[in-house]
Amino acid sequence: MHDILQELADRRAAARMGGGERRIAAQHAKGKLSARERVELLLDDGSFEEFDTFVAHRCTDFGMDDSRPWGDGVVTGWGTVNGRLVYVFSQDFTVFGGSLSETHANKICKIMDMAIQNGAPIIGINDSGGARIQEGVMSLAGYAEVFQRNILGSGVVPQISLIMGPCAGGAVYSPAMTDFIFMVRDSSYMFVTGPDVVKTVTNEVVTAEELGGAHTHTTKSSVADAAFEDDLELLAETRRLIDFLPASNREKPPVRPFFDDPARVEPSLDTLVPDNPNQPYDMKELILKIADEGDFFEIQEGFARNIITGFIRLEGSTVGVVANQPMVLAGCLDIDSARKAARFVRFCDAFEIPILTLVDVPGFLPGTAQEYDGIIKHGAKLLFAYGEATVPKVTVITRKAYGGAYVVMASKHLRGDFNYAWPTSEIAVMGAKGAVEILYRSELDDADKIAARTSDYEDRFANPFVAAEHGFIDEVIMPQSTRRRVCRAFASLRNKKLSNPWKKHDNIPL
Ligand code: HXC
Repeated sequence: MHDILQELADRRAAARMGGGERRIAAQHAKGKLSARERVELLLDDGSFEEFDTFVAHRCTDFGMDDSRPWGDGVVTGWGTVNGRLVYVFSQDFTVFGGSLSETHANKICKIMDMAIQNGAPIIGINDSGGARIQEGVMSLAGYAEVFQRNILGSGVVPQISLIMGPCAGGAVYSPAMTDFIFMVRDSSYMFVTGPDVVKTVTNEVVTAEELGGAHTHTTKSSVADAAFEDDLELLAETRRLIDFLPASNREKPPVRPFFDDPARVEPSLDTLVPDNPNQPYDMKELILKIADEGDFFEIQEGFARNIITGFIRLEGSTVGVVANQPMVLAGCLDIDSARKAARFVRFCDAFEIPILTLVDVPGFLPGTAQEYDGIIKHGAKLLFAYGEATVPKVTVITRKAYGGAYVVMASKHLRGDFNYAWPTSEIAVMGAKGAVEILYRSELDDADKIAARTSDYEDRFANPFVAAEHGFIDEVIMPQSTRRRVCRAFASLRNKKLSNPWKKHDNIPL
């Protein structure tokens, strides 16, 4: 018996060594943790239960039968994050460069199937040279199996991709279909075609980091949702994100203990909006002052900074926040911000996370660049996302809510449940200057007349009361009491039931 137990221990020890000490040392030398170290740090201490430790590839071509390491380049299993079940796979770059074989894909598919069936998030750690070259089409088939599960699992369980090394070629399409992508600065990259192919085809000279590093994908392409300094920070922040998310679309988000008084008043908010309507202010201050303990997990912080998206908690429950940011492009909606916010709203709606919308929007960004690139279709995404969302929706207008952008930003007309406005709100088709220039074109030479017309317009529309007269604003509230109002609103909506007409799926403008 002793020998039998010893054999299991020996085999496990061998499997745990992956590609061996030399390759693990090389991984460390690049500032990267090993596949197993990552899993250990991601999950609660001692909670990891491994699957398929002894799976080995079946390839016999190109001398592959000489080397059949246990695990086949991916560590898979389940464990907990702050006590809550998650499924995880972690590609092991020390074994055939983490490349994906038929059996490697089978291991990933097995835990994806279990996650979908049991209603728990899937966290995929990507560190791979792509398709296992020796396996040819078997590898491609394996990717397709993973992709199919990404698709079927979308909107069923949260899927999070951690890019912690190479992720190139068609392999990028698995992370691309997941809900969140996090990257590590300077040691991870994602691209469909690498720098060498780019050079051959387009003559552009670009490094891997410039082409598909964390900075590129969090500021230019918006492929990734956040960038972190190193493996440790990324894994710690992933744990923090998981705490905000429900395990599946069948469950409510977790309710955490909170120590912040839901009725807390913030007198400083009464002076957040400057006297001059053209002066910016930082909308993040409002988010932090509304949130329990000022805790905010921002998504896509570095991209389309004219809109802010992320998670807070109110009375311990997760709420998704979408907020115009007057500090960037005066808070205008444009293609990037509409796409960013629409995807976030749809994530929240899919997972029953209520949405708080903070509005200060002077309209859509004008210009040929925007029109040529399709602001009409991209802007419609956000409108569509808000209109189809059935989760509790609470909106607070702090200042400008002009034109189409007023309607888009979770207005009453798009089934907003509570639509509040600060007394500083201006709800109108457009700002006073633009309106007067159109309405009184013939008087434009007469500065006094124009000043009087502008002042009239401001008196009539630069306030929330016309909208309130029509019931489009449920109540004009004191800025200092925003947290209390918003907490009470969401508390009253906890049992909201609303559904859309039956359909196979919608046809959101893509
Ligand atoms: C098999 C691979 C491999 C692969 C790397 N290795 N990629 N083995 N299939 N795709 C092996 C290497 O032979 C080496 O083995 C070990 O992994 C480490 O690789 P190195 O090249 O020494 O590492 P490094 O210098 O860090 O370079 C990493 C790399 C490079 C940039 C990823 O390995 C590389 O370019 N690999 C090929 C990438 C590629 O073209 N993949 C196919 C993409 S197309 P030893 O034994 O020496 O340690 C694709 C299609 C997916 O993925 C389609 C989905 C539909």
